[in-house]
Amino acid sequence: MPPDEFPATPNDALRIDRRQFLVRLEMLAAGLTCGALPLIAAGCAARAKYVTPTLTGERLSVPLAQVGATGGVLVEDPFGDLPIFLHRTADGAYVAVSTRCGHRGCQVEPAAAKLVCPCHGSEYTLDGTILQGPTLRPLERYRVTVDGAAAIIHRTSPETP
Ligand code: FES
Repeated sequence: MPPDEFPATPNDALRIDRRQFLVRLEMLAAGLTCGALPLIAAGCAARAKYVTPTLTGERLSVPLAQVGATGGVLVEDPFGDLPIFLHRTADGAYVAVSTRCGHRGCQVEPAAAKLVCPCHGSEYTLDGTILQGPTLRPLERYRVTVDGAAAIIHRTSPETP
């Protein structure tokens, strides 16, 4: 791990620069707009819903009907403190990535067709590939198989996007 990925002191983790402030301000404005004006909210990206998987060993099972066509869901992870983002790609494959940002560990959020970190503005594709820093590490990705009408996330089988 690069040494500059971690704060030198606990207070360093709380500092934000001008760019980070603007990213947070933009997200706050988007949230206020979507929450305050229902007519405009119809045009805002819907927040991903949380689902609770069925656990079999270290496999998380999520009904395909809950994943939806393309939007994706946040799957509660009994092995971690942050959820896993699971979505269906345009070609019908299922992809699962950790929502732990590779920079300093904040939870990334789905926003349109990417995953965005609210802490310092890193952005990723929905399969965890870096679009924009400061992160230097892609999101951890898990193997997904389909068993009947369920997507199975193999929690202990990380892949590299
Ligand atoms: S924790 Fe810094 S960009 Fe995500």
